[in-house]
Amino acid sequence: MKRKKEIIDELEREQCLPEEGLRELLSTKEKETLEYLRQRAEAVRQSVYGNQVYIRGLIEFTNYCKNDCYYCGIRRSNSLAERYRLSREEILSCCKMGYELGFRTFVLQGGEDGYYTDERLCEIIRAMKSSYPDCAVTMSVGERDRESYEAMYRAGADRYLLRHETADEAHYGKLHPKELTRKSRMECLRTLKEIGYQVGCGFMVGSPYQTTDTLIQDLLFIKEFKPHMVGIGPFIPHKDTPFRDEAAGTLEMTLRLLSIIRLMHPLVLLPATTALGTIDANGRELGILAGANVVMPNLSPREVRGKYLLYDNKICTGDEAAECRFCMEKRMEKIGYQVVVDRGDYIAYENPGSGFS
Ligand code: 5AD
Ligand code: FES
Repeated sequence: MKRKKEIIDELEREQCLPEEGLRELLSTKEKETLEYLRQRAEAVRQSVYGNQVYIRGLIEFTNYCKNDCYYCGIRRSNSLAERYRLSREEILSCCKMGYELGFRTFVLQGGEDGYYTDERLCEIIRAMKSSYPDCAVTMSVGERDRESYEAMYRAGADRYLLRHETADEAHYGKLHPKELTRKSRMECLRTLKEIGYQVGCGFMVGSPYQTTDTLIQDLLFIKEFKPHMVGIGPFIPHKDTPFRDEAAGTLEMTLRLLSIIRLMHPLVLLPATTALGTIDANGRELGILAGANVVMPNLSPREVRGKYLLYDNKICTGDEAAECRFCMEKRMEKIGYQVVVDRGDYIAYENPGSGFS
């Protein structure tokens, strides 16, 4: 325990660890060590963000996808998925509801759907920004070319989420068909950052074929890339995918990784994800207590929620936006945290001299 405590102190101090240190933290079974890791991550999170929790309104606007990722319920080969697209008007009415509920960030997430040309997406972004100029728009629409990313940025998009999924090339190949490559993923991430987006990468915890070594590579990649946001949540099998019989990722490992990521990157915007809330009824609360500082309640219209199913047993598919919003506020209050009406930008943008980098 003493040695592990020193490793955790080193991680907090240096915001980094040599591979062997990461390996020890990823493999230890000592309860006290894990509790100490959580406490240090929570303390760092408190020193940067206090007890505030940022909320993002998630609008799942299309579940058409041209890709065929083995883990994902909306992969093109899943002929059982009931496909839908939201119109610009439907998206704007989600924003209206969201704005009234206190959301100041909207996340447009969808499959890689060719229907949404640059022109269509830019028109939607412009409409959102002109109606809600005090809100941030986050795009999460997968891999596109540089021109497309530039056009969306010019139209007013502020942030982009593109999980790297795994930093290990061989592992990447086991999760995706051969048309999808780690190289192209990483190129997209670098392009997004160059353009000026606040960028989020991330991965699933406990995805099939993940090992301690691939996780170390994920952590080292995050250290090197310095994303503004990191999205991680447990892998959960979907019954109509090739990974239907694989085991889900665990609560414990997800919490451990949230804490490590907080210590490596004190300023990072780190959501306690819906997938975490799906594997454990208190998953999102435990995520916040382990160092996360963002939650992303669903703003999609109730009629389509049950269709945007990346994995089985997803929570909140029967709830209205307002229910999720207030449910989240209560959940956070119960653990001593406060949901705030704020864009919740990466703080170094506002405050370059904060002492953390
Ligand atoms: N379990 C958990 N997360 C998943 N995602 C896709 N399928 C699953 C699943 N079965 C994640 C991917 C993707 C994000 C939008 O959702 O990491 O990037
Ligand atoms: Fe959706 Fe609790 S967050 S019902």
